[in-house]
Amino acid sequence: MDHGHEEVVQLNGSKGLNEVAFPKPLSPDKIEGNHVYYTIRIQSGQVTFFENHETKTYGYNGPLLGPTIIVQKRQKVTVQLINELEEETTVHWHGLIIGGEEDGGPHQVIKPGEEQAITFTVEQEGAMLWFHPHPLHETSRQVYNGLAGLLYIVDEKQQAIPHTYGVDDFPLILQDKTFTDDFQLDYNQVKDDDGTTGNTLLINGVINPKLTLPHQWIRLRFLNGSNMRTYQLSFKQKVPMGQVASDGGLLENIVWQDSIQITPAERIEVVVDLTHVRQATVELQDDDGTLLLPIKIEGKSQQDWTIPHVLNVLPKLEDVESFPISKKIRIEGMANDVTLNGLTYDPDRIDFKQKQNELEVWEIENVMDDMGGMKHPFHIHGAQFKIISIDEEIPPAYLLGYKDTVSIEPGSKAKIAIKFPKKGLYMYHCHILEHEDSGMMGQILVE
Ligand code: C2O
Ligand code: CU
Ligand code: CU
Repeated sequence: MDHGHEEVVQLNGSKGLNEVAFPKPLSPDKIEGNHVYYTIRIQSGQVTFFENHETKTYGYNGPLLGPTIIVQKRQKVTVQLINELEEETTVHWHGLIIGGEEDGGPHQVIKPGEEQAITFTVEQEGAMLWFHPHPLHETSRQVYNGLAGLLYIVDEKQQAIPHTYGVDDFPLILQDKTFTDDFQLDYNQVKDDDGTTGNTLLINGVINPKLTLPHQWIRLRFLNGSNMRTYQLSFKQKVPMGQVASDGGLLENIVWQDSIQITPAERIEVVVDLTHVRQATVELQDDDGTLLLPIKIEGKSQQDWTIPHVLNVLPKLEDVESFPISKKIRIEGMANDVTLNGLTYDPDRIDFKQKQNELEVWEIENVMDDMGGMKHPFHIHGAQFKIISIDEEIPPAYLLGYKDTVSIEPGSKAKIAIKFPKKGLYMYHCHILEHEDSGMMGQILVE
């Protein structure tokens, strides 16, 4: 074995054949005052990605991915989860501040044919979060088969950014998969212990995607829903992207960038000014020039928008400098030999404890190995944290907002300030899903 890490399968560029569809907003079952009720059915189904061929898939309330659940800040939400699959699953609310019992980690198994109801109150700011399965050792395959949905949290601040769903506010879920010769998604056939990558790009579950938009300001909300692949997004025509939000909500100010990295589980929201673009098509690409999404610009729109000076005001963390580092996590290993602090995940072991609402400073280190190592997107449940430093330096402006996933390069260390507003048992792990499944995961009890 002379190959190192990151044996990434070459991604084929989009041929621009199919218009991207946006997940439908989920209609509530009922609304009682401030309390809204939804149902999510976890299902298997079939999708015709290729003419005359049915591909077997998984999805929420449909054959693939899921609807978008749109909730308001301060709303009380009940979700009835119904497992119609023939296997166990869980539904995890990635990025949501929610009690440990409702978080949908590996302990909250829903058996085939069973139901589970969870209730939470939305107490965090406007953001795009997501939900996906989290069963022990089976997360990668279930996500790969199609399970992932979006959760929008809406608040007043969000009104200052284009926010009309499907009109000027477009979620884009980036995933890569490999279809077998018989047009199926056979996870076990393509699985890679260092993270499964595919040759076929899907955006919102559409292969060979394209998008047609009028000349207007648009907001693109990217979710990297891939098992392992990182994308480096830019427009071939050098149209600038103004980043307005990260995982957990709006940045304080817009950050203009030509190229943006998005690692698994991260969300990046940008605004793009298409009003004055001269080209008929602008092309979103990966850093090697792979075409991800051609955007055809056609016609005028009534939408008008001016960039606000301040998008958000985040609490200052000045005195955090004087905090001791209370928890250290060392990310190590490769393939199926991956550890956190030298250990693999044990559902019966509590690795850390923290007091509810108490701010702590953690240090997360990605330990270099003989082969150099690889980048790990490190994620923590039940919290939105802030990055204080990366290798002792203040992070770039686009990383200064709320985060639930931080990408750490080999040999690098990130310091974060984190508090858990709710109680319970929460997971933290590498969001390369195969690493998570192989045990690059620990748990913290918040009491
Ligand atoms: Cu998005 Cu523990 O996961
Ligand atoms: Cu999560
Ligand atoms: Cu990893």
